[in-house]
Amino acid sequence: MRDAHVRDAVALLEYNRNIDSESRFLSREPGEMDLTVDEERGWIDSLLKQENALILVAVHGDRVVGMLDFVGGTWSRIRHSGEFGISVAQEYWNAGIGSVLLDSLIDWAYKGGIIRKLRLRVLASNQAAIALYKKKGFEVEGLHPHEVRIGGENFSLLSMGLVLE
Ligand SMILES: CC(C)(COP(=O)(O)OP(=O)(O)OC[C@H]1O[C@@H](n2cnc3c(N)ncnc32)[C@H](O)[C@@H]1OP(=O)(O)O)[C@@H](O)C(=O)NCCC(=O)NCCS
Repeated sequence: MRDAHVRDAVALLEYNRNIDSESRFLSREPGEMDLTVDEERGWIDSLLKQENALILVAVHGDRVVGMLDFVGGTWSRIRHSGEFGISVAQEYWNAGIGSVLLDSLIDWAYKGGIIRKLRLRVLASNQAAIALYKKKGFEVEGLHPHEVRIGGENFSLLSMGLVLE
């Protein structure tokens, strides 16, 4: 596992297209990811330049098999907090990659000294992810009904947070 580079753009796009078909817990429908390679490069580059942002990739050979992206707030009052997304390729689920990605995020936040609060939003039905976040110390902060619509049905999101003392 390592920080992402701009040269990961192609592999990351391929990874994201695959994971959208593998998981029913993500925000995008399969096929909806329509960024070009240049746009993906631009996105990676913009986060690399932000000292309160992070993109981690888990790699197997040339292939991205997991990722975590975190972005902190822009203004001084919210610079210390931010939201992340995390996913792992289906064939690697329950092998500890998600746990390592989260540990690395928390470690980076502590060491950087800027980030004091991590948060995320997760489908209330995503038991595996919620169990993992709770294991890392995240607490449920809110329930947001009707936030996600899949196949004509509405689903609730939970917001969860971890305060770094
Ligand atoms: C959520 C996700 C990132 C976890 O990554 P992972 O590499 O599988 O996670 P780990 O292997 O480190 O840990 C998984 C933990 O969940 C537990 N788990 C798995 N299925 C579970 C379930 N149905 N209920 C409760 N716990 C469950 C495992 O037992 C394991 O805990 P343990 O280490 O105490 O045994 C991965 O499953 C994923 O990408 N899912 C699809 C996308 C997604 O849901 N992303 C999160 C959106 S908020």
